[in-house]
Amino acid sequence: MSKQGMSSRVCPLVSELLTQDSRSLPPGLKMVGNHVPAAQPISFDRYYDPAFAKLEMERMWMKTWQFACREEDIPEIGDRVPYDVGSGLSLIIVRSGPREFRALYNSCRHRGTRLVNAPSSGTSIRCPFHGWEWNPSGELKHVPCEWDFDGISKTSHSLPQVQVDTWEGFIFVNPDPNSKPLKDSLGILPQAFEGRGHGQRYTVAHVSKKLRANWKTVLEAFLEAYHVVETHSDALPFTGDTCTAYDIWESDEGHVSRLITPSAVPSAHLGDNASAQVAADGVAMFFSMAAPGVPMPKFDASNGNARSQLADWRRAFMGQALGLDLSDRCDSEMIDSTQYHLFPNFGVWFGDGLPLIYQFLPYGEDPNESIFNVRLTAPLPGNGIRPPSAKINHLDFDDYFSDKAPEFGPLSHVFDQDMSNIPNIQKGMRTAPKGATKATLGRYQEQRIQYFQNTLSRVLGLE
Ligand code: FES
Ligand SMILES: [Fe+2]
Repeated sequence: MSKQGMSSRVCPLVSELLTQDSRSLPPGLKMVGNHVPAAQPISFDRYYDPAFAKLEMERMWMKTWQFACREEDIPEIGDRVPYDVGSGLSLIIVRSGPREFRALYNSCRHRGTRLVNAPSSGTSIRCPFHGWEWNPSGELKHVPCEWDFDGISKTSHSLPQVQVDTWEGFIFVNPDPNSKPLKDSLGILPQAFEGRGHGQRYTVAHVSKKLRANWKTVLEAFLEAYHVVETHSDALPFTGDTCTAYDIWESDEGHVSRLITPSAVPSAHLGDNASAQVAADGVAMFFSMAAPGVPMPKFDASNGNARSQLADWRRAFMGQALGLDLSDRCDSEMIDSTQYHLFPNFGVWFGDGLPLIYQFLPYGEDPNESIFNVRLTAPLPGNGIRPPSAKINHLDFDDYFSDKAPEFGPLSHVFDQDMSNIPNIQKGMRTAPKGATKATLGRYQEQRIQYFQNTLSRVLGLE
């Protein structure tokens, strides 16, 4: 575990906090990634130049394993959702068998009409223009006035498809028929999530937010905790921003990074005498806002184990509500914010401190716009019955999470804080004067951004 960062008397580094955990750590918190990304310049035009976006489409989106959706979004045979990457790639992700998925091109074989615009179901995928129909595995099934067409058959006019594979309930696609299998691209994720996989979780809330910024601008706003001091300053009394641990695991195909931001410790920005009691109470308040009706006990931070007390409280009330035994879950996975990123578009959080899933995608033609999809997840209940996956709540460019996505509870406010910056980052990069058009990154706290950009350069063949 990294020993870098800024600590205080009341806010040790994550590496030390983890040694004080009341339980043994799962692999996802024990692993250390030692890759140090080279300091390469990152030019702002990467975020707005249409030529760069075109290169990303051709060399990255069309050739990379990427997160499309969750299996639980399409629970029945014939259920499907569209997966769009800007205006350059559109697929239909469909369940074609009890345990079989297809990723079909979302374009009619007759005259090209887009076939699926929204989540839908049924045994036929039917074109709204003249009514050609395909079955869920992509074979042509019915053509009105078939006598009028020469040389069409079930297979000659099936819907072309791309590679699709799953990991822990996540559906990934790769348009490149010659790519290596998904498992080679997951890097250390299977090892890190062993025994804590999202196969045993489900989506309880799901927002799709349009943003006036490039997809990388949005992604990078979530790769560091350096912005907490300014953007989320109201969280400083209970968030270990500067003692956050950052790790990177590099391999030929799998590009993974992680941050662990501890909660229930006061930020080192507040000095050595910041209150451990206020830190414990702040986190208790945050978790109780997310669990209305659950009584909040009094926590005593004077004996130095407030984090364990908070974790005990969450193990008990979550375990009871879900009918699960959470007694082996360590303190950190109950209360801290641990986020893994897999290149290019997948953010997956570990444990129940901040149980989110992120997906970043270009939107339409304009590199200055994108889609941020975020899900809140929960462990599957102990009765084995999988609750339905939440429906997507679409938020437009000017919608606030606090107004339109109350299902995210206290997190709505945090997302609104992040979202308020994002269009301004994009605007400012576009108007930067000559000589000031490159990012200046922190070597430790912003290393995941550097790593992501270095990987992107490599994938695009720009090195
Ligand atoms: S364009 Fe699809 S059936 Fe005619
Ligand atoms: Fe943030």
